Amino acid sequence: MILFAVESSCDETSAAVVKAEDGRFTVLSNIISSQIAIHALYGGVVPEIASRAHCEAVTNVAREAVREAGIELSEIDAVAVTFAPGLIGSLLVGVSFAKSLAAVLNVPLVPVNHIEGHVAAAYIEHEALVPPYLALVVSGGHTSLYRVPDYTTFEEIGASRDDACGEAFDKVGRVMGLPYPGGAAMDKLAAEYFADNDPEKPVFVFPFPAVGDETFDFSFSGLKTAVINTIHNEKQKRKTDELPDEIRRAIAGCFTKTVCDGISKKLSAALRETGASTLVMAGGVAANSHLRRAVAETCRRRKTAFCVPSLPLCGDNAAMIAAAGYHLLRAGITADASLNAFASDEAAEDYIASLASCR
Ligand code: KG4
Ligand code: ZN
Repeated sequence: MILFAVESSCDETSAAVVKAEDGRFTVLSNIISSQIAIHALYGGVVPEIASRAHCEAVTNVAREAVREAGIELSEIDAVAVTFAPGLIGSLLVGVSFAKSLAAVLNVPLVPVNHIEGHVAAAYIEHEALVPPYLALVVSGGHTSLYRVPDYTTFEEIGASRDDACGEAFDKVGRVMGLPYPGGAAMDKLAAEYFADNDPEKPVFVFPFPAVGDETFDFSFSGLKTAVINTIHNEKQKRKTDELPDEIRRAIAGCFTKTVCDGISKKLSAALRETGASTLVMAGGVAANSHLRRAVAETCRRRKTAFCVPSLPLCGDNAAMIAAAGYHLLRAGITADASLNAFASDEAAEDYIASLASCR
């Protein structure tokens, strides 16, 4: 079966053509047009600019995906699209495009939750991965733990009560003067710090982002504020706006270590409590080299199999939406021409539940 997928929930317009055979995926194309350069001028995503940029890019991105895949439009068996959660104007562009394409081709239209799409990215490269498993999603908008009993059920068992992990990376990066989004640059700075310093003897001690012992919840807002205050204090101490490189490295390193320790602690407890034998980590922050190592080590200690997508499949892309769409289609979950987009997870869940109850 050939799936065509569209992703436009935030600041990347993406279209992909993916071949699925018995749950095995071959990515024939996965085109991503990033708006980062546009939003970098503002230090963050500007929703209206994002919608307009998706509107300008979507047709060419889709054309390029079909061209690179070397298929005819008539070979497409289903169209999958991210319909929630995300920026509503951005989502609407992808949803409108996908609805039209599915209608013209007279093929099923599959509504995909962006977060579940991130998790499904793991199926593309890990052929042996099958539910049940535990999923950790770390992105710019989410930090959540899910029990995944089957391909289309996601039961949240923990989440950030405030900022998402990626948001904390980006805000700290911005105050340090790093290019937007700050995650990748922070990763590099932290690596430089770890190369010369013992991570167990931190130069700066920051608040732990894990909430209590009785939940699997996180909190990144206190950590983010403490790091930003430290940056301001270090600048004031030196009466300069330019921090020395070694201080920037130490802040990035100690912040990253605190994030990794907080996530590993909750993960370890969740693996113990659920007895899960497999963990999937997904989302943009899953590209962080230090977090990948820390989570791999946590899984090794708990004798848990660890599946994480390769770096190009961690960030937003349409191939992951195709993989999720395939499993939804197999479960009989398709939308009709009245499909809408939803900014929140809750509204998306209600919509999918209404589709499932109609089956
Ligand atoms: O999943 P994603 O592409 O978009 C959302 O669904 O939010 O995640 C984007 C987030 C941004 O916050 C970005 O800074 C972060 O992923 N990110 C990283 C790294 N690469 C991307 N954070 C830490 N280390 C990285 N290497
Ligand atoms: Zn994402």
